[in-house]
Amino acid sequence: MEPTLEGTVEVHSYLGPADDRTLADDVLDGLTRPLKELAPKHLYDARGSELFDAICELPEYYQTRTERLILRTRAQDVVARTGAVELVELGSGSADKTRVLLDAMDDAQTLRRYVPVDVSETTVHAAAETLVARYPGMSVHGVVGDFERHLGHLPAALGPRLFVFLGGTIGNFPPGSRRRFLRGLRKVMGAGDHLLLGTDLVKDPRIIEAAYDDSAGVTAQFNLNVLHVLNRELGANFDVDGFEHVAFYDRKRQWIEMRLRATDQQHVRVEALGLDVEFAPREELRTEISAKFTPERLRNDLAAAGLELVELYSDPDELFAVSLSRLG
Ligand code: SAH
Ligand code: TRP
Repeated sequence: MEPTLEGTVEVHSYLGPADDRTLADDVLDGLTRPLKELAPKHLYDARGSELFDAICELPEYYQTRTERLILRTRAQDVVARTGAVELVELGSGSADKTRVLLDAMDDAQTLRRYVPVDVSETTVHAAAETLVARYPGMSVHGVVGDFERHLGHLPAALGPRLFVFLGGTIGNFPPGSRRRFLRGLRKVMGAGDHLLLGTDLVKDPRIIEAAYDDSAGVTAQFNLNVLHVLNRELGANFDVDGFEHVAFYDRKRQWIEMRLRATDQQHVRVEALGLDVEFAPREELRTEISAKFTPERLRNDLAAAGLELVELYSDPDELFAVSLSRLG
């Protein structure tokens, strides 16, 4: 099969029954721990993905607009330095900021293919359709899958590739998994490939906490949505109104944690797992961490994975960083 025809779209899904197991296993594991916890990828069903897009528009959520500004300023430089003909995006979501990079590749007349990778099937299809229409000379090869497990399914490179991982999503891994993820990514990268990575920076905790606890309550809805996912997918009976959204910055670990706190005693039955779970009054369930970086930490994490920092781009207020690296 010749997958490189201009203007063609294909989407391959690698999620299947084994991944329903993943949800079930994650939940069984997470809800029976001393500090209850859920893996963040389950936040992004169709509704969760919509709510996340709404978060990106919030006045308090400085990340999206800041990262877009950095990309606008630096896209040409990135394209010139990498000579990329192909953009592979992990956790692509709505791929809104990605257009800035695709525009620059298009202007440089190098653009041949876009490869979005996301667990959210609806967003991969939507981004694929929108972008193939916008760039007539480009093909799209979408991958619906887990970027921790399915990077082996990326199509063979057409030439130098730019891997991009935006939105500070790398901060959502705990530190050990973060390094494992970067090592896995490095393994699929070739000598001519680059990684463009968006990371939120350490700053005044008040700015960070506001970004994860907005006044319109959208982040709270996004966080609580995961309980609807468990009710629907696993036949659980969470009383969603009996939980509240909590976000706090851990200064020592330099990450923000999102939790759901039971306002009162809760008994929850998770039918698909045959599991009964008790929440004591004010007991919390951790749904997400979002690590904030210093340039040193970033450089160390990249180096530990065998990646060498080429450029570190930031905004004038140093709120956010976009780094370019390659095989070290
Ligand atoms: N890149 C976009 C979206 C970031 S939100 C932006 O910068 O705004 C994080 C995205 O990663 C979501 O679309 C979510 O569905 C996806 N995601 C989260 N965990 C994932 C995993 N394990 N594998 C693949 N995609 C994942
Ligand atoms: N990658 C985003 C971040 O860390 C995800 C995110 C934003 C998020 N707001 C959230 C996750 C609220 C859970 C709850 O900024």
